[in-house]
Amino acid sequence: MRQSLVMGNWKMNGRRAGVQALAAGLKSALVGVSPVEIAVCPPYPFLLLAAADIGPGVALGGQNVSLYNDGAYTGEVSAEMLQDLGCRFAIVGHSERRALFGETDEIVAKKFARARAAGLVPVLCVGETLSERDAGRTEAVVGAQIAAVFAECGSGAFAQAVIAYEPVWAIGTGRAASPGEAQTVHAFIRATVAAQDRSAAEALRILYGGSVKAQNARELFAQNDIDGGLIGGASLDATEFAGICRAAAA
Ligand code: 13P
Repeated sequence: MRQSLVMGNWKMNGRRAGVQALAAGLKSALVGVSPVEIAVCPPYPFLLLAAADIGPGVALGGQNVSLYNDGAYTGEVSAEMLQDLGCRFAIVGHSERRALFGETDEIVAKKFARARAAGLVPVLCVGETLSERDAGRTEAVVGAQIAAVFAECGSGAFAQAVIAYEPVWAIGTGRAASPGEAQTVHAFIRATVAAQDRSAAEALRILYGGSVKAQNARELFAQNDIDGGLIGGASLDATEFAGICRAAAA
């Protein structure tokens, strides 16, 4: 039985006062919400601030990791730094990084390896654009995103990892994938991992992300291969995010 995981990706939002208010709001809104693992991924400058107010029951994650280890890489943040700050997770390959910052499947796979080497749990984001879906290429795109990680890290790549299926057309659009659409891709993801590593595939938590709200979360999380969510916009509202966490705990 896989424990549900709900992660909030705050993206590039917030100021100190708002971060403290959100963290404190989450701490009280999440009282008694179990059994579900919960994490938030604030912007880097606010990681410690959020941690101080959110309490010990919520894990921290980075939204990205550098391709490099420490050294002369101006502007970068290494996986080791995130681990040292108390992060448990690191998102790699978010579609916004792929689309806006030129991250290829190979770069994302190397970042995945960096996160693992630093002792973080990598959260690999995969997903197709609307035109790829319309062209019937969803499985080809998602399969290639996963294959790049196997090529970089070997067949045990997903032993201690998370995959988040985030169809690009569902992110921030208010148009979530239907539970059936998401389940189909989640089952494909699990089968793809199982072809290399059956036990990792059975234990693997596969999160759905893309316009999840408290109101649609329960039906999504009820699907066999949906083990929680990676939440963007709704994670900036403590009550809404707590509602999503409750749906995952149900
Ligand atoms: P929304 O929940 O705002 O659609 O964002 C999803 C996402 O990108 C989480 O990483």
